Amino acid sequence: PPPGWVSIGRVGPTESLSLTFALRQQNLQQLQKLVQDVSDPGSPRYVGGLHRFPRASSLQQRPGPKLDLEESLSLHMGVTPAVIRERYNLTAQDVGSGSPNNSQACAQFLEQYFHDADLEEFMKLFGKSFPHKNSVSRVVGQQGHGRAGLEASLDVQYLMSAGANISTWVYSSPGRHESQEPFLQWLLLLSNESSLPLVHTVSYGDDEDSLSTAYLHRVNSELMKAAARGLTLLFASGDSGAGCFSGPKGHLFRPSFPASSPYVTTVGGTSFRNPFMVTEEIVDYISGGGFSNIFPRPQYQDEAVSHFLGSSTHLPPSSYYNASGRAYPDVAALSDGYWVVSNHVPIPWVSGTSASTPVFGGLLSLVNEQRLLNGRPPLGFLNPRLYSMQGRGLFDVTQGCHEACLDEEVQGQGFCSKPGWDPVTGWGTPNYPALLKALLDP
Ligand SMILES: *[C@@H]1O[C@H](CO)[C@@H](O)[C@H](O)[C@H]1NC(C)=O
Ligand SMILES: *[C@@H]1O[C@H](CO)[C@@H](O)[C@H](O)[C@H]1NC(C)=O
Repeated sequence: PPPGWVSIGRVGPTESLSLTFALRQQNLQQLQKLVQDVSDPGSPRYVGGLHRFPRASSLQQRPGPKLDLEESLSLHMGVTPAVIRERYNLTAQDVGSGSPNNSQACAQFLEQYFHDADLEEFMKLFGKSFPHKNSVSRVVGQQGHGRAGLEASLDVQYLMSAGANISTWVYSSPGRHESQEPFLQWLLLLSNESSLPLVHTVSYGDDEDSLSTAYLHRVNSELMKAAARGLTLLFASGDSGAGCFSGPKGHLFRPSFPASSPYVTTVGGTSFRNPFMVTEEIVDYISGGGFSNIFPRPQYQDEAVSHFLGSSTHLPPSSYYNASGRAYPDVAALSDGYWVVSNHVPIPWVSGTSASTPVFGGLLSLVNEQRLLNGRPPLGFLNPRLYSMQGRGLFDVTQGCHEACLDEEVQGQGFCSKPGWDPVTGWGTPNYPALLKALLDP
């Protein structure tokens, strides 16, 4: 078993176990070429396990910092939609205007359900300053009737207040697949539908090393298909920094999947420099980031990653990571100190890249709205365009490092942010008016 797991004996003969059988995909190189063509803004075309172990949910409530009462004028008491909209320069007019073909979705797993009543209460408390919807347009799959989950509540509430007044769907894939998220099941559901939301956010992930290589490649092929269809898929980068794997040969950083897929846009996390004020952002030390051990570095990020590796003065020892792998995250947003309403209770200090991901996704839906109004196709797979923008439209996050192995060699520190792209906060956080400008043309 992987580190931290102990075999406690044979499984009883009556225990049931679900297995996945999937057909090996053919002609993937042609698909790869198609994704390149449809996602490159310069291109003239637009087409329209048995060995896996669960990972505990990483979304957490961190204790808030102590408030210095002398500073208590013009302070906020945690991140709310108003704080998000202020920091990212959204006006009350930056909302969906009812474009019929625009919609967004978040995917829920691990028996996480949202409650309509929580969304209503959240909007009553925090949605006064901007037009928004008070209910989800469609739930695909089964919504259980149990207690609301914090993750599901957070995703729905922030997707719908960043991508405000945009029709929102929730994909609900309950049940476990070999004890983890049934990502493949969800992706096959998407592949089976002809008309579906343009932007999907997913705040779930697993350690790459906990999944079989065959499964990783099979899920990656589905992600590639979604990119070829022009869908924008965002994944949280994870909440353990560079992560840590304690193997027989010592420590390694531990990448997260699907964050490490080259066909998704991965979102890291930041904090305000002053936690109680709307200030510039610094690294949130939990922000997941690093290099895939499975997927090689895609061409679109070659220059950015080479530049980072070539110009960093404090890189961790090279034995800890695979410098030639797909590097992530691609972008970031605030991930620290959110208010969420769950089971009728407003809960403060909810933190994680689970929060930054729906926020970034909602903003991309607002960009799609403007693109559609201007007769342009939706953004589709963002990364080739994003890397060609070289940080235009984003606030560069240049201060702070994320966490990693607590050993003598790296002493708890993974990578550090610096000007330009870095594997902690990607290209940075959205400055909406500038991002819209950069993403409107061509
Ligand atoms: C919000 O969306 C609805 C359609 O769902 C539209 O009729 C309304 O005008 C939009 N509100 C704003 C302020 O654009
Ligand atoms: C795919 O869609 C068809 C038609 O709606 C439905 O009958 C079928 O069950 C779906 N398959 C999956 C795997 O969702």
